[in-house]
Amino acid sequence: MRILGLESSCDETGAAVYDDEQGLIAHALHTQIPMHAQYGGVVPELASRDHIKRVVPLVREVTRRAGMQLQDYCAVAYTAGPGLIGALLVGAMAARALAYALNIPAIPVHHMEGHLLAPLLEDPKPAFPFTALLVSGGHTMLIDVRGPGAYHLLGQTVDDAAGEAFDKTAKLLDLPYPGGPHLERLAQGGNSSAYHFPRPMLDRPTADFSFAGLKTAVLNAVQAAKAEGRLNDQVKSDIARCFTDAVTDTLVHKCERALKMTHSKTLVVAGGVSANQAVRQALTALMAERGGQAFFARPEFCTDNGAMIAQAGMMRFKAGQYGPLAVNVFPRWPLDTLALLNG
Ligand code: KG4
Ligand code: ZN
Repeated sequence: MRILGLESSCDETGAAVYDDEQGLIAHALHTQIPMHAQYGGVVPELASRDHIKRVVPLVREVTRRAGMQLQDYCAVAYTAGPGLIGALLVGAMAARALAYALNIPAIPVHHMEGHLLAPLLEDPKPAFPFTALLVSGGHTMLIDVRGPGAYHLLGQTVDDAAGEAFDKTAKLLDLPYPGGPHLERLAQGGNSSAYHFPRPMLDRPTADFSFAGLKTAVLNAVQAAKAEGRLNDQVKSDIARCFTDAVTDTLVHKCERALKMTHSKTLVVAGGVSANQAVRQALTALMAERGGQAFFARPEFCTDNGAMIAQAGMMRFKAGQYGPLAVNVFPRWPLDTLALLNG
């Protein structure tokens, strides 16, 4: 059985074909980053209009690459939220229309469940149960994953998301949108003892995060260097490096705390920030120290893509969880309200 998966929650249109026995068969992505970059961030209306242009050609492309006809699909999965409402509606309408025409089910997928399960696209893949760290542009969460669909929230950010902190810091350093990958490159030449930025909430016994104070500390450092006329490339690089160290340390500490709560030996790390090599290395080392293992998706599946939606959609399809005929999307949608997947 093969499902078509569509992603259109933000600034990337993704399509993929997933087979319940063979796994991922084909995937394709169109990124809107160059289009939004000139505005310094995502312009929702432009995003929706671009998704409209891309979605049908991407469906054709993955179907051709998989050597299939549209009639061969068992279902169509689409991101139903959370995300930008106009962008979500494009994928939802395309999936619903296709499902209606082909007389197959349409499966609404939670974007963060897609991210959370993306490391299962890899070989070897993590086994349930596990503890998950979700670090994306809009979310920072630690989750006790007791089984497929059983997500118990252990902690989350009280202000900015980790990806948002990367993006805002990058902006202060005059890097293009989205800042994360640019900041990662800039940090490579930086001196990690040049600054010591705060690691907020490490003293608190919870698995919650806060990144707003870190952003302010970076702002102060940038302004001080500017005022003294020494905000050169090396100083920018030092700030990027010390910022990354602060985020990485915070993530490591909070994961440790969560793992103590769950007694798990398996850590799954997902979402855009999990593409960061410093973050991957630190969390891999943490799990090695604890006699466990950290799992990540390949970098291209850490950020938004259709493959993760097709995979999560197949799990929901096999559990018989089809959406109602009415097109409904959810710009806000708590992950721990999802139905269980295996009874
Ligand atoms: O998961 P994602 O594609 O979108 C959401 O669902 O929110 O994550 C995008 C976020 C952006 O904030 C981006 O700057 C960040 O992930 N990101 C990175 C890296 N690649 C993407 N942050 C740090 N290092 C990276 N290499
Ligand atoms: Zn995402």
